Amino acid sequence: MPLLGVNIDHVATLRQARREFDPDPVKAAVICLQAGADSIVAHLREDRRHIQDKDVWALRRTVHGRFNLEMSLDAEIVRIASRLKPDQATLVPERRQEITTEGGLDVIHQFDAVRRAVEVLNKKKIAVSLFIPPDKKQILKSRESGAAMIEIHTGAYDRARTDQSRARQLRKIQEATAYGRRLGLIVNAGHGLKYDNTRPIARIPGIAELNIGHAIMARALFVGLGQAVREMKELVAL
Ligand code: PXP
Repeated sequence: MPLLGVNIDHVATLRQARREFDPDPVKAAVICLQAGADSIVAHLREDRRHIQDKDVWALRRTVHGRFNLEMSLDAEIVRIASRLKPDQATLVPERRQEITTEGGLDVIHQFDAVRRAVEVLNKKKIAVSLFIPPDKKQILKSRESGAAMIEIHTGAYDRARTDQSRARQLRKIQEATAYGRRLGLIVNAGHGLKYDNTRPIARIPGIAELNIGHAIMARALFVGLGQAVREMKELVAL
């Protein structure tokens, strides 16, 4: 049964719309954990468009649950993560113009930078996950980098518009998961997962954790955050 990591970035997106205090991502994290989330995910972006430095420190201090910091390979962010010591760091690509993390890391072409960041974080006893597309070469290179974990990007699966292409994308994720497990990696998945497309991913044998943000926060506006997390947890656990 996969675990559920809840990404709380968009609580901060709403707060930053006014640059005041509400809603507070720390309060959101507490509600998510009480409702059954297995970890809290927050992305400290280089442009600080949603989560701020003070948020990650407050989350680290006050949240008694597993904290997964999403982050780029940027040297300043790696330094912050080394001091912060989240339980887990998920390395993602970052582009200023993007609306969200659009693609996976290219571990093959950025191998030296990835390996350096993994080494620094591993030394601090932070478990490192690499956010990558469902591609065997990227998976193999991820293991070579020293990361113990990967997160398979499910964005192409989410964007598939025909049954045939969705089935093809699902197969790719299934094969990538099996391959990662054979290499001894912990395999997670996420991005673009919603209430109507999460179940097939949750049922893939060997998937350890699904990381979901936007869909849960969007539903939370109508049913409340606790209820939105409980509903997703049920889908993931079924
Ligand atoms: N996993 C990673 C690595 C991400 O970058 C994101 C988006 O921040 C998510 C999961 C969650 O994606 P979504 O908000 O589409 O559920």
